[in-house]
Amino acid sequence: MASNPHELRVYDSVLGLLSSEENPTPLVRLHRVVPFRHAKIYAKLEWYNPFGAVKDRVAANLVRDAEERGTLAPGNKLVEATSGNTGLGLAMIGNAKGYPLRTPLSAAIPLEKRTVLRFFGTDVQELDDSLCPAPGAPEGAIATARETAKQPGFVLLDQYTNEANPDAHFRTTGPEIWRQTEGKITHFVAGLGTCGTITGNGRFLKSKNPAVKVLGVYPEDGHDIPGVRSKRQLAQTKLYFPQEYNGEVEVTNREAFDLCLRLNREESVIAGPSSGMALAGALKLVPDEPGVIAVVIFPDNIFKYASSVCRHFPQMCPALAGGMPGEAAGAAPSRNEQLMDEMIENLKNPYDSVAVTDLARELNGADGPKPLVVDVRPAEQFADLHIPGAVNLPQSELSQRKGELPPDRNAPIVMVCGIGKFSKPTTLYLKSLGYRNVRSLKGGINEWVRKQQPTAPAVAAKVN
Ligand SMILES: Cc1ncc(COP(=O)(O)O)c(C=O)c1O
Repeated sequence: MASNPHELRVYDSVLGLLSSEENPTPLVRLHRVVPFRHAKIYAKLEWYNPFGAVKDRVAANLVRDAEERGTLAPGNKLVEATSGNTGLGLAMIGNAKGYPLRTPLSAAIPLEKRTVLRFFGTDVQELDDSLCPAPGAPEGAIATARETAKQPGFVLLDQYTNEANPDAHFRTTGPEIWRQTEGKITHFVAGLGTCGTITGNGRFLKSKNPAVKVLGVYPEDGHDIPGVRSKRQLAQTKLYFPQEYNGEVEVTNREAFDLCLRLNREESVIAGPSSGMALAGALKLVPDEPGVIAVVIFPDNIFKYASSVCRHFPQMCPALAGGMPGEAAGAAPSRNEQLMDEMIENLKNPYDSVAVTDLARELNGADGPKPLVVDVRPAEQFADLHIPGAVNLPQSELSQRKGELPPDRNAPIVMVCGIGKFSKPTTLYLKSLGYRNVRSLKGGINEWVRKQQPTAPAVAAKVN
């Protein structure tokens, strides 16, 4: 056997594959998509980690750190809010070390990630949350994870606040890059999510050479790039230390997905959307000057993002863009899709939705018969907080449990979800069952709480 196992790449266990200074992920120079004459741009391909993403480093370090502190021990279960990659890494580290994982996550996370998490054995709790979990959202993934962590046996490692997240990069990614560039790196570029990557690498590289420029890239508001946060979302992130970075820039969805496509087609680099985003930012921020050596983190590869690809390049997914039988497939949405989008859009009309203040008045009996409030969120979220008197029929169970709806098709019904998104298709569903007087609550339970309407349990009681 070779003295250095990485020479032959023979390992005692899969955990031996985790990257380190001796076993770095590859650095690959980019040519065709880089318009520079002087500056050299290298991509660090993080899908060469054993479970497919940059977050494997973080998952391993969170677990190592908690074990060493004694906060995680055999018999414990892990709970972690995640936009996918941390969950995938933690699931596999957990499988290798005997810690089962539960992960509350947004139903907006790509189906590929949610399915593979389940395939890995994770207990996945899907929530009506935004793409990137927002600390403070009353029913978001992070709040749910914190609640679960109060149960005996559960341990929350919390990548959003835990210094072991940036420390993973201080211990591994940073030293790898320093060694791989022989100390010649001048610019480090990363997309911003929890900010563990930029903060840990930045601290390490600046400890070696304070002149290294540390640059962050973030997506536009309302973006469709899992794992990263817009400027507004970053304000809620504990590990975001802008004073430690030398520059930041915004990249649009279009720029990120277009460059992601070019990386795959022109460089044969199987980069995912956040890699396209990070590189698009690097091309804006890094100067084209002699001696410039920039390293850009490429967090994961394109294989997890088929559904995002279909959204951004519908012409590549004829099965979805094909429309009615006999219609030509094309880039435009099919007539069926247009009809469906239009129906959902039409539910915003004043007849099919109800504002918080109006529903509150109706529930006080001011305007005739009180409507039945049907809350379509998962049972745990309902138990946590709901409109007094509401019944819970989770969206995923609605068709099996339709017998629990009132027999009278004229009965007034209001559908409620977290933010008013999921209640709309369920309103349509009830209409398809013949209900004539069904509406959706605008802004969902979030808006109800924001407008300080009564809840069960009461919000003040919850806070205490
Ligand atoms: C695909 C992807 N890109 C970028 C990032 C951002 O990395 P960080 O959370 O270290 O800022 C993540 C983090 O989850 C990610 O999953």
